[in-house]
Amino acid sequence: MPLVTSQEMLRAALEGRYAVGAFNANNMEQVQGIVDAAVEERSPVILQVSQGAIRYAGLDFAAAMVKSAAAEADVPVVLHLDHGTDFDQNVRCLRAGFTSLMFDGSKKPFEENIATTARVVHIAHVCGIPVEAELGCVLQSTDGVTEAEVCDAMTQPGEAKEFVERTGCDSLAVAIGSVHAMREAEAELNIELLKEIRQIIDIPLVLHGSSGVKESSEVEAIQHGIAKINVATMLNQAFTVALHKAIAADPENVDPRKFLLHSREAVKEVVRHKMRLFGSSGKITGSGYVSPTKVERSVKIGGLEA
Ligand code: G3H
Ligand code: ZN
Repeated sequence: MPLVTSQEMLRAALEGRYAVGAFNANNMEQVQGIVDAAVEERSPVILQVSQGAIRYAGLDFAAAMVKSAAAEADVPVVLHLDHGTDFDQNVRCLRAGFTSLMFDGSKKPFEENIATTARVVHIAHVCGIPVEAELGCVLQSTDGVTEAEVCDAMTQPGEAKEFVERTGCDSLAVAIGSVHAMREAEAELNIELLKEIRQIIDIPLVLHGSSGVKESSEVEAIQHGIAKINVATMLNQAFTVALHKAIAADPENVDPRKFLLHSREAVKEVVRHKMRLFGSSGKITGSGYVSPTKVERSVKIGGLEA
């Protein structure tokens, strides 16, 4: 089916007390693994591309991959810009057919973040596209952050209320204790802070840096307003570990497909697990639309042909 926007999808999640997984994709196998899991789990899904992914694959190519996968799927798929840190990038994605944007001004001063977010929201809303913004800052583990720095960067509830009112953003990424790109799930979220934010803000809240968060903490956060959960590092890990294993098992092989289909399956299984954990599995009922052009892909090595 055609891409849908994140507006209705996240509202439904918020009301139903589940979260939609927003999975980062950089290549065809990741896109297919994510969408395959969504179809099998009967789950709504957000595929997101970061600015790094856009630099790697090219904007139109990245968008086309997600649109093609969505066209073959009979569950709703959103194409989202992840961490668009400037106005122009958001406009380019709007033009390329993205159905959800993010302006990330979290590293900018408060007033500048508000001003640019409001500009992005204005132009996106003219086209019927929702915008995620970020206040507080979800830091990068690769920058070697301390616990004190993570606490200092957390979202202030009072500021968040003013921010949402003045920007008109549709969802808000909050910093409540997670850190991007952690390889072990050991962080506990600050649920008390999340509850305070939730009491004064009624739009869907977004959790970034989920790969480093304990699953029990994610589940608790969903009960208090987190309706979108971003997953990236964990998918890259699964993809790469499967690739290493496949190459080690068959070092003489030179057909990359025989390696990459293992990576695609590994991504699919992580996404499936997360969809069940987030409660989005089974939320798409009915027969839905099945594309007549859907083709069966080989999932077994023996099914590959030259
Ligand atoms: O925007 C992307 C995410 O926040 C992903 O974070 O790499 O820690 O899973 P992660
Ligand atoms: Zn993020």
